[in-house]
Amino acid sequence: MNLSFAIYKKIFRIISFSSQKIKQDSYVIGGYVRDFLLGKMESEDLDILTIGEGIKLAKEVSKYIKPYPKIKIFKRFGTAMLIYEKQKIEFVGSRKESYHFSSRKPLIKLGSLQDDQNRRDFTINALAISLNRYNYGELIDPFGGIYDLKKKILKTPLDSNITYSDDPLRMMRAIRFATQLQFTIEEYSFKSIQKNKYRINIVSIERIIEEFNKILLSNKPSIGLLLLYKSGLLSIILPELTLLKGIEEKNGYKHKDNFYHTLQVVDNISKRKKNSLWLRWAALLHDIGKVYTKKFLPKIGWSFHSHEFVGSKMVSNIFQRLRLPKGFPMKYVKKIIQYSYKPIALIENNISDSAIRRLLFDLGEDLEDLIKLCIADITTNNIEKKSKYKKNIYLLMERIKKLEKKDRIKNWKSPISGNDIMKVFHIDPCKKIGIIKNFIKNSILEGKISNEFHSAYILMLQKGEELGLKKK
Ligand code: CTP
Repeated sequence: MNLSFAIYKKIFRIISFSSQKIKQDSYVIGGYVRDFLLGKMESEDLDILTIGEGIKLAKEVSKYIKPYPKIKIFKRFGTAMLIYEKQKIEFVGSRKESYHFSSRKPLIKLGSLQDDQNRRDFTINALAISLNRYNYGELIDPFGGIYDLKKKILKTPLDSNITYSDDPLRMMRAIRFATQLQFTIEEYSFKSIQKNKYRINIVSIERIIEEFNKILLSNKPSIGLLLLYKSGLLSIILPELTLLKGIEEKNGYKHKDNFYHTLQVVDNISKRKKNSLWLRWAALLHDIGKVYTKKFLPKIGWSFHSHEFVGSKMVSNIFQRLRLPKGFPMKYVKKIIQYSYKPIALIENNISDSAIRRLLFDLGEDLEDLIKLCIADITTNNIEKKSKYKKNIYLLMERIKKLEKKDRIKNWKSPISGNDIMKVFHIDPCKKIGIIKNFIKNSILEGKISNEFHSAYILMLQKGEELGLKKK
């Protein structure tokens, strides 16, 4: 949330006053403090820690806000949330936690501020700012979080083996913060992640993917993907990617390391903030079929023929396993991967106008994203090759633009509808209607007729006659 500091000051004064009234000390803690000290004012939620009951403080605070806000109470967790000026404010009582080995859900007891700071994930997330009258605005930093913020280090307050084993989601959070903030995970802490990697299996896949998606949505996802790989977590979460690692050489022919290539492609596609999560997923998975299609052809070299088809077929299983949405996102990712090699193949084979019309027809609005992926896919270091590949894609884009302007294929709608056909031939719904429509569509895509009613009408009459139909 990007509110002015004046609004936050007002919020803090109200909380301070309310805390005093119910005699519970309170602090701002977690993401807001971290982001504020980093000069960012965009924390999703504002976490307020109180030494006592969170719900009681939320109720007191709500009395001083107009109009009276709705409080969402989470009885089981003893927490409450309200929204003020579009800012979510979470109230939580200070806790001391102890964990059971098989679960990341802790047993909770009331604790002191220090107990609460001890149980937090990173020193930079354990920083607290007092809202109490006697030390209002004081920064309470028992673990050197400020130093770590300056040095850009991610470190756990307690022994990291305990912090990660207690709540293994924190291994994903460490890598996510390292990617978003471009911080380094302290060496001992990273070793603990490597050691505790299998503990990730007690975390729900939804929570893992939430962090994974944040990594993918960052400016440079390769930072996180590489850390996931080095920690061993990637081969647990997405082994299809780690299998791409490696270079093989035979008779002097070498292929590229498709894992590192993929990371580069994902970074390229992420240079534009606007590029969607699903285009990033498509970039991430675009070469996974290469593992199963790799062949060595004597005198020719390495081939990955049809990898895009094999890869796109693998998407459903991956999406199901990772509980990613099945509807549009999965179909889109499958489609982009399936066609990912098409523009290059068309360029290489002296492309015809009808092939471009087919591409426009099959991809529709997604063609733009497919082209973005093709450009991102150019990772060669050879400057000549790079500019040749890019030039070819730009030439293809020019031709696509011209043809689309002329034939309007992208959002194609048949110039003759099924109803038109039924009316002209006086027939009820039947197979022949589909045959005629398909014939018209193919004739337009092949450039035999133009995309307009009159030419399509003549073709309909011809095809109808061939099928034994008579105009009434
Ligand atoms: N926290 C933790 N362990 C977790 C999750 C959260 O210790 N597995 C603590 C951290 O102190 C964190 C705070 O709870 O700062 C709030 O958590 P959350 O809102 O999930 O994260 P933020 O740090 O606020 O960052 P972001 O909003 O980017 O997720």
